[in-house]
This record gives sequence, structure tokens and C-alpha cells, in this order.
Amino acid sequence: MEVYKKLKESTQKNGWNIYKRLIRIALKNNGTPLALAVIGMIITALSDPALSAIMKPILDGGFIERDQSVISLLPLGLFLIFFLRSIGIFLTIYYMAKVGRSLVYRLREMMFEKLLSLPISFYDKSSSGDLMSRISHNVELLSSVAARSLIILIRDTITIIGLLIWMFYLSWELTLFFITASPFIVFLVSALNKKFRRLTHDAQNSIGNIIHVAQEVMQGNKIVKIFNGYSRETKRFSKTNMFNNNSHMKLAFTEGINSSVIMLIVGSSLSGIILLSTFDFILESISVGSFVSFMFAMFMILGPARGLASINARLQQGIAAGENVFELIDQKSEIDKGVINKIDINNNIVFKNINFKYENSESSILKNINLTIENGNFVALVGMSGCGKSTLVNLIPRLYNPVSGFISINGIDIQELNIETLRSNISYVGQDTILFNDTIKNNILYGKNNIDDKEILQALKNSYSMDFIEDMPDGIDTVIGENGVLLSGGQRQRLAIARAFLKNSHILIFDEATSSLDSVSEKYIQKALNALKKGKTTIVIAHRLSTVENADKIVVVNDGEIVEMGRHKELINKKGYYFNLYNSQTFQ
Ligand SMILES: Nc1ncnc2c1ncn2[C@@H]1O[C@H](COP(=O)(O)OP(=O)(O)O)[C@@H](O)[C@H]1O
Ligand SMILES: [Mg+2]
Repeated sequence: MEVYKKLKESTQKNGWNIYKRLIRIALKNNGTPLALAVIGMIITALSDPALSAIMKPILDGGFIERDQSVISLLPLGLFLIFFLRSIGIFLTIYYMAKVGRSLVYRLREMMFEKLLSLPISFYDKSSSGDLMSRISHNVELLSSVAARSLIILIRDTITIIGLLIWMFYLSWELTLFFITASPFIVFLVSALNKKFRRLTHDAQNSIGNIIHVAQEVMQGNKIVKIFNGYSRETKRFSKTNMFNNNSHMKLAFTEGINSSVIMLIVGSSLSGIILLSTFDFILESISVGSFVSFMFAMFMILGPARGLASINARLQQGIAAGENVFELIDQKSEIDKGVINKIDINNNIVFKNINFKYENSESSILKNINLTIENGNFVALVGMSGCGKSTLVNLIPRLYNPVSGFISINGIDIQELNIETLRSNISYVGQDTILFNDTIKNNILYGKNNIDDKEILQALKNSYSMDFIEDMPDGIDTVIGENGVLLSGGQRQRLAIARAFLKNSHILIFDEATSSLDSVSEKYIQKALNALKKGKTTIVIAHRLSTVENADKIVVVNDGEIVEMGRHKELINKKGYYFNLYNSQTFQ
């Protein structure tokens, strides 16, 4: 949230820019529906003055002079006006919805594309609740406000102008009096304007906080239950909930005052006009039909006038929502300047003078790392928790980029490799297996679709997954629940390994893949990993040192630096850092 505020200041766009962008997006592929909607608006708008105008002959000709030709024509005229109006209304509602929905569709698409392409460092500093509210709530609001504003700007404005012209024609004196009230309305609306924008921002952002807290409770419900977090979570939630409630109430208050004061001004001018028209000089110059038609027009002008008076509030609301939406769309995607899109890995991975720190970390996390991982070797990274092992391996698929130094594969700087090409050569099995709410088959196929069931079954067998899948009701077509909640930790891990088997990439990274498992599951997984490793370059971050004793090279990391390197025997004989680490585990 904090980060966003800062970003907001720097990327603060003015409202007009936001609308320009919206119009550009809306016009793309939507010219015809938009034109039809505008035609609908114009028809509807013109039918108002027409209705008011037809009042005059109905009264003067029909009721007062009882003119037969007028009496027989008027019902037809009236029907025609309503007929056209009904067409206009349909065109407006239907085609505006078409434009609005496609705007939502396109913006969501843009936001989702951005979510996929954002660097991990962006996610490190943002709240998923906030992002969620942007993609769900803000987009809807933006589109509905934009559509509504357009209707007001076109339809209501034409209605008002049409009605005013008609009123002028009937009696310019009364009309002049009527429009003297407008400056008050304009003044009032612009005074309330600034406040409105701020309140709208508050109300919209607070939705993000609500989603955030609710989401954490949903994800962490086990912890909440076991640690009796009810009251803490209730308090936390009610605070954000209350803030949201208050911002909306403040918004409603401003909106209410806005509308009601305008009503008062309009009401007083209406009474004033009735009073004025009782004066002789006006009474003489105006027929009954004209007077009724004038009053009719005045009442009809109220709705559109209110709409026009609220246009600013709406535009402000749209700008607030638009800022949230475009701020996400405008975030910088992962940098990918790599142009090489084919690599057949047959040589070493080399870390050269790598220094790294996270955007928000104070000191260096990795210091002057020089490391060669020979092609086809099995290399282990060991060290205390927090010393930088995961950070080191995350640099290989370019989840983060080093501050200085470079990493090369086959002698090519990985920055020169197209990011997709680079990643297609790397498999990863981590401590927490991320699974999707889908079937087992789709989970392990993830991203691949040219693989037949035989291969899938082989991968599942190699990863020792078949024994638990056989017990499942639908076998490999069983849906495993959100993040695989229907499976145990070891089972999830084995599926992650099956996924890596299918990907069959040359570089394998295991980041404490077995550390959360019991020794029986660990044995299974070790066997599966050993099968998977054959002929590949493998980097294993080991929690239990006994699992990497046979590594070709053990790299010992301490506080972001490589302190020792070598085979298990050599390092033990050296009686240094590794020796102590090893002993502390063996004799614990
Ligand atoms: N996304 C991140 N943002 C900021 N600091 C991080 C992030 N991830 C890890 N760190 C910090 O970097 C250091 C190294 O972390 P990590 O590489 O995960 O250690 P290891 O895998 O060896 O346990 C730790 O001090 C940790 O707090
Ligand atoms: Mg780690």
C-alpha cells in the first residue's frame, strides 16, 4: 500500500489523459457500437423537447380550439415520438453496454498480461488484495462510470439544449429567469469536486485492504484456529471494514448534499417562474398551451440537469478508478533484452563476480560470488538458513537480476538469452509445491500439451506418485483442490518432481525439496530425484547434508559468501566450516 502511494505521486496522471486512453481503448474495434449508441442518445435526447412541444398544439388546438385536424393527427404524432424514443433507448442501453463490457474485457486482459509479465520484485512489495481489487472492482467501476458519463455528456446535454431552445421560443423572459439559477449550480459542484475525488480514492483503496485481510484469513485459517486468532483477526478486519464503511458514508453524504442543494436551487427557481408568470405582461403574451408546454419542459429538464451536475463527481470517480487501473498496466514488465532464442546446453554454468541485493534490503545479500557448475554435474549448496542459497539459485532463471557481475551458460551471458528460452531449460522443485486447482494430469503437464498419457504415467511412476494416485477415485483425472489441499506434503512434492520429469530440461534446481518431509517420504523423493538427475546439470540446496554427500561439488555459503568448495571428503578433511556444520547435524 505504502509503495503504491509513492508510485502514485510519481505517476500521477491528470484526468484528461486517463479519459483519452479510455476513449482510445473503447474506440478500438468498437466504432460501430459506439456510433449506434450515440445515435440512440441523440434520438432519445431530441424526443424530450418534441414531447414538450407537442403539448402546445394538444392544448391550444385540441382542447381549446377543438380543431378536428389537430385532434386526429396528435395521437399519431405522440405515438411516433414514443416509438422513436423507444428505439433510441434500446440503442443507448444495448450498445453502451457493448462498449462498456468490451472496455472491461480489454482492461482486464491488459491487467492480466501485466500480472504475468511483472518481475517477482513487484510481487515482493505489493498486496495481492490490492491487486485483486484493481482487477475486479476498479475496472468495473471505471467502465460503468465512463459509460454513464458519456450518456450524460451527449444525451443529457442535447436534451437540455433542445429544451432550452424550445423554452426560449415560448417565452424568453421566463427562460432567462430560469437559467440565472445555473451559475449557483456550477459553483456548488466545483466546490464539492475536490473533496469527492479524495473520498472516492479512499473508498476504492479500502476494498483492497478488505480483500487482503479476508484472503489472509482464508489462506491461514489453520494458524488462525490453532493460535486462537479470532479476536485479533476480527479486530483487524473490523478496522478495515469500518474504514471502508466510513469512506462510503462520507462519499454518500457529499453526494447527497450535492444533489439536494441543487434540487433546492432548482425548486426555488421553479416557484419563482410560476410567480413571475402570474404578472400581467407575461400572462398576456403566453397561451395556455405554451404555458403548460413551458412547465412541462422545465420538469423534463430537471433529470438531465441533475445528471449534468453530477457529471463531475462521476468523472472524478472514474479518474480515481482509472488511476488505479492504469497504474498497474503501466508498471514495468520484466526486462528481457535477450535475443538468442535457441540454446543447446552442453557446457558450464558460470557465476562471475556476482553481487546482489533485494530492492528493499539494506546490505548485500550475495557478495562477489564466483562459481562454476560443470555441465552434467551434481552440485550442492549448503549453509545456514538465510545465508543466500535460494537467492543464488533464483538468479539462474532470472527471477532476479544481479546488481553486478554476470552468469553465463555455454559461455553466453544469460541476459542475452531470451527469457523464455532460458527458462525452458530449467526445472525447479522447491520446498513449497505450487499446484493449481485442476486435475493431477493438468498440473504436471503444466505448460506442455504435446505429451501422451503413456509418458505422463511414466513420469508419475518415476516420481513414485502412482501408489497414491491409484487409490484416487478418478486416477490422474482427479481434481486436487486449491493448491493441492487434498494431498499430503510428500505427495505434492512427488507431483512437482513428476512435473520436472515431463519438462525434461537440462538444468535442475532443487531448493530444499525434501526438507519438510518425514524420512520415509524423503527416501522416496531422494530416489525420484536421483532418477531425474541422470545426464542433467543439477543444483541441490540441501537441508540435510547427508543427502548430498555424493555430490560432485559442495559449495558452502555463509552470509552471502562462498566460504568453502569441494567434495564431501575433502571438506571433512579440511576441518573447516563444512566440517562443523556436518558434525552439528550428525551429533545433534
Ligand atoms: N524477496 C525478498 N526481499 C527481501 N529480502 C529477501 C527476500 N528473500 C530473501 N530475502 C533475504 O535474503 C537473505 C537470504 O535469503 P535466502 O536466499 O532465502 O536464504 P536461504 O535460502 O539460504 O535460507 C535473507 O536474509 C532473507 O531475509
Ligand atoms: Mg532458501
